[in-house]
Order: sequence, then C-alpha cells, then structure tokens
Amino acid sequence: MCGIVGYVGKRDAAPLLLDGVQRLEYRGYDSAGLAVVADGGLVVEKVAGRIIDLQAHLGERLPQGTVGLAHTRWATHGVPNDSNAHPHIDCGGTLAIVHNGIIENANALREWLKEKGHRFRSDTDTEVLAHLIEQFLNGSLVEAVSTALGHVEGAYGIAVVSTTEPETLVAARFGSPLLVGLGDGEHFVASDAAALLEYTRDVVYLDDGEMAVVRQDGYEITDLQAQHVEKLVTTLEWDLAKIERGGHAHFMLKEIMEQPESIRNTLRGHLLEDEGTAKLSGINLDDDELLEFDRIVITACGTSWHAALIGEYMLEELARVPVEVEYASEFRYRNPIVDENTLVIAISQSGETADTLAAIREAKQRGARTLGIVNVVGSSIAREVDGGTYLHAGPEIGVASTKAFTCQVAVLALLTLRIGRLRALSVLQGREIVQALQRLPEQVAEVLSQADRVKQVAETFMRAQNALYLGRGYNFPVALEGALKLKEISYIHAEGYPAAEMKHGPIALIDDMMPVVFIAPKDAVHRKILSNIEEVKARRGRVLAVVTEGDEQITELADHVITIPESIDPLTPVLSVLPLQLFAYYTAVRRGCDVDQPRNLAKSVTVE
Ligand code: G6P
Repeated sequence: MCGIVGYVGKRDAAPLLLDGVQRLEYRGYDSAGLAVVADGGLVVEKVAGRIIDLQAHLGERLPQGTVGLAHTRWATHGVPNDSNAHPHIDCGGTLAIVHNGIIENANALREWLKEKGHRFRSDTDTEVLAHLIEQFLNGSLVEAVSTALGHVEGAYGIAVVSTTEPETLVAARFGSPLLVGLGDGEHFVASDAAALLEYTRDVVYLDDGEMAVVRQDGYEITDLQAQHVEKLVTTLEWDLAKIERGGHAHFMLKEIMEQPESIRNTLRGHLLEDEGTAKLSGINLDDDELLEFDRIVITACGTSWHAALIGEYMLEELARVPVEVEYASEFRYRNPIVDENTLVIAISQSGETADTLAAIREAKQRGARTLGIVNVVGSSIAREVDGGTYLHAGPEIGVASTKAFTCQVAVLALLTLRIGRLRALSVLQGREIVQALQRLPEQVAEVLSQADRVKQVAETFMRAQNALYLGRGYNFPVALEGALKLKEISYIHAEGYPAAEMKHGPIALIDDMMPVVFIAPKDAVHRKILSNIEEVKARRGRVLAVVTEGDEQITELADHVITIPESIDPLTPVLSVLPLQLFAYYTAVRRGCDVDQPRNLAKSVTVE
C-alpha cells in the first residue's frame, strides 16, 4: 500500500509533495512524512496520522529546497508512530528513502547491518534499506541503490534522495507500482499517477527490476545492472476534476452517483446490436482461440471477487462454459488445475492487488492464457496479462469499491456475450442482452434518484449491531457485496448468505432487533425468496427488501422496500446493488464514520 511522491525541479518541493501525497492518501493513511534536500543538508519531518497532521506539524515552516520526497503509510512492519513513519534515514543522516512493499529478508539484513555498526531507530523493514544503501555508498548513489537492491528479497517501490548527490532522485520498482512524471525542467516520481495530474500528463511506468535516475533536466531508466532501458511515454487522459469530490460530501457518494456515466463509458464502443454480441478487441483472442478453452477460472479479491461470482453465473448459464471463481490469495498457494486450455481472468479495480497479481503469474507459469478486467490503466495486472478490457470507470478514490463493481459486472456481461454467441446463445438472445445493457445507464440513474428514501431507511437501522443480507441466484453475490459495504464503512457486523441457507444457521440470530436485507427482484427465484421473507417475518425480523417496481407481494410483507426497474436476470445485480451501496453510505455517515478512509482498510492492497 502506501503512497510515494518525489520531485526534482526548480520549484519549492515541499508544497508540491504535500499536495501530491494528499491525493494518494487513499492508499494508506496512518502516518506521513517528507524529506527535502536543503542547503546541502536533509530536512526530514514525519508524524503518525494523516497528511493534515503532517501539515499541522509543519505549520508555516515548510522546508525549503527543490528536491524531495514524501510518503503516506499503511503499516506493515511496526505500529503507526512517528519513528516508523517514512522517510527513513541512514546513520549519517545523508540519505532518505520512502518505500512501498515488504522486504522479506529484512530481519537477516538488519542483523548483518547491526554487526557492521549500523544503528536502527524504527521497527520497519524500510529502514533496513536506508542502512543497506549507506553500507554500499561509495561515490555513486545509483550504484549503491542497485547493489543494495541486489541483496533484497521481497517487493518494493522506492525513492531515495541523498545529500551526496543533491540534484538526483533515484527510484526503483520490484512488485510495487512506480512511475516517472515528465515536466518542463522538472521531473516527478509517484506510486500512482493521481498524485501528478496537476503537474503533468506524461508518464513512464517502471517495470519490475527497473530503476529511474531522475534529475531536473532529464531522466534515465535502467535495469539493476545499469543497462539503459528504452521506455514508452504514456499520456494520461484522466481529468483532474474527476479525482476531486465535485461537490459531494465524500468520494464514495460521488462515485455511487457517477454510475450511470461510468457504466456508459464501460459499454461505449463494445456493443454490436445487430449481431447480438460484443466487440472486445483488447482480449487478443479470436473465435478459434475462444472455442479452445474448456474451462474459465476467475480470480480476484474483495468486491472484485463478488463481481467474479456474478460472472460465473452468467458465463455458465449463457455461454455454457464451466467457470470456477477463486480468491486470488487461495489460488496462488494451491496447486490449481490450470493448463493451456484454461482461460484465467483476473478482476481488479486497482490492477495492483498483490494476491491477484501473483495469481496471474502463477496461471501464466502453468501455461494458461490470462485476461484482465482492470480499471487503472497501465497498472501492473493490466501490463502482465495477455489481454483484457479496461473498465473506464474513471478513478475510484473511496476505499469501499462501488462504481468499479457495477462496471465489472457490465464487462463480464460483454464477455459472456462474446463467448456465448460462439457457443450457446442465439442472435435473438444476444440482442436481448445487448438491449438490456443499453438500458442500464438510465435505469441506474432511476434507482439512484431514490437516494433520499434510502437515507430515511438507513436512519431507522443506524443503531443495529448486526445485519443479515440474503439473496438467491444472481443476487446471492449482491448479498455478499451489500454486507461487505456495510461492514467496511459503518463497522456494523454484517453477513451475506444465499437466502435458502438461512435455515441452516443464521435463522437462529433473527429477532426483532435484527435487520434482514433481502435482494429480491422479480427473477427466476422470486417465489422461493418470498417464502424466505415469510420465514424471517414469522420471527419478527425487520425486513428491508430491494424489489422490482410493482412487486406488491413483497411490499406488503417487508417493513421497507426500495424498488429497481425490470431487467434481465443476469443484469439485476447492477441495479440491486445500488440501494445497498447507498444504505451502507448513509448508515456510516449517520454513525459518524470516516466513509472514504475507513479504519484499517486501504484502497489498494499491494501486500499479501
Ligand atoms: C481492497 C479494497 C476493496 C477491493 C479489494 C480488491 O480490499 O478495499 O474495495 O475490492 O481491495 O481490490 P482490487 O483493486 O483488486 O479490485
């Protein structure tokens, strides 16, 4: 996790670094710091807490200097306190380093360095790197960094400055994202392009095993052996306004409300209505290749894993391909049955989730073809898969994923169309799905227009200690996602279950204090879920139901209902999840929780 920003140029570095690192706070926010090379010395300031605490600590006394780096941390080694905050410095106080990732052999290196006389001030793995570089520093900073990295096992994205070369910033990547931003007479380093958008659109993404030597007037990318590497410059199209809140109280609410537009962007250019299929040129697979697979494995974490489950239901029902969905963290350490006839799909909003990336590498090693369904352009997963499709949902900043989820389901529907039309779907069935997809953005807007109503319902449930989310068929994964949203941001314990499984345990929990959220649109299992609602009401549970417009039966039974327009069964999740996102949001706000940066969580989990 963690956010990194570095600057070498002609302007004062500190304000720029603070601004950049603030845009990365969603990556981690338990401590923050900066280092500026000033008058031949190094000024390092760091505190436990958020960027706002660092700013308060600095007050008016911003360190002066045109070279520096900053960091926002999500603790992996050592509690979040001042001394464990980054940057870390060597014994001599001549170099400062910020780091994202985990150094796996940190303990062994620390012991070795202690024997050499180095004194440690923190419990972090990162500080080991500072001393290791110092140990090898004998002239060139770049050489010292590359020699030090040669001794390191684990994952890193690092940036280093030193008073020995006050006009140089050295960065390196292995497993944690890093890029160089190109300006006019100034250059940047960041772990995420969001930090740099205000200053430049031109970036160079580092790959694993690459280093960047960055100066005011230029930069060079090399491998760890100092061999020059030719790189492409990517011009970013993201709009700065899009990574700001745009008048909403929180990023999460902004992102929920953006869904009509984000889904429209996801679908744009992909639908072929006449042929009843979807065009997905980025997957780099032709018809023959798509027919060769006898199995699909979808791997992901968190919310993306819930989208994957919906994909499984769609692909099996409509494309008639066996699909298995696996947590990336499990997949990577099992001995999964995957070969050249398996298509392995990774779903990831960030494209940086360490477990998902590792799962993709494992799949490739076993000969599988890999696809990515990713939001962040140029992210690690997007670059490592054989092909894929971007969500084009725009930046998602709120830690709890919302618009990425609905866009992921939309992409899975496109993939189902593409594969299904080759195998099992008629053109008429295909057209019906295309038309239902085309209706989605308007329908999403219609559901979101009931936000005030959801807010009122949230008011009545805000003191709950627990909640149960129940759904069947395509809406079982929505129950899981609704429960995840609530627990992530409101800290209410919530569980999602297939509605019929309720009788095998959770029914014991139901009393008049227990909110039960039913996701019950008019679909193939509607009658079945009606009985489940009766069972809950018979035990005096309080029912909130998400139902299709005009569903009088459930409206009579439930305590509260939120309606969604009619759609085809596989697409109901895109509509039914919206009230649950809003419900979690308003509940968390009423409980005074920090919605965009909930405790202990991070947007992008780049460690195991
Ligand atoms: C973290 C985030 C979740 C996200 C999950 C997977 O836990 O807080 O919102 O669903 O990571 O992230 P990815 O970027 O791979 O979709």
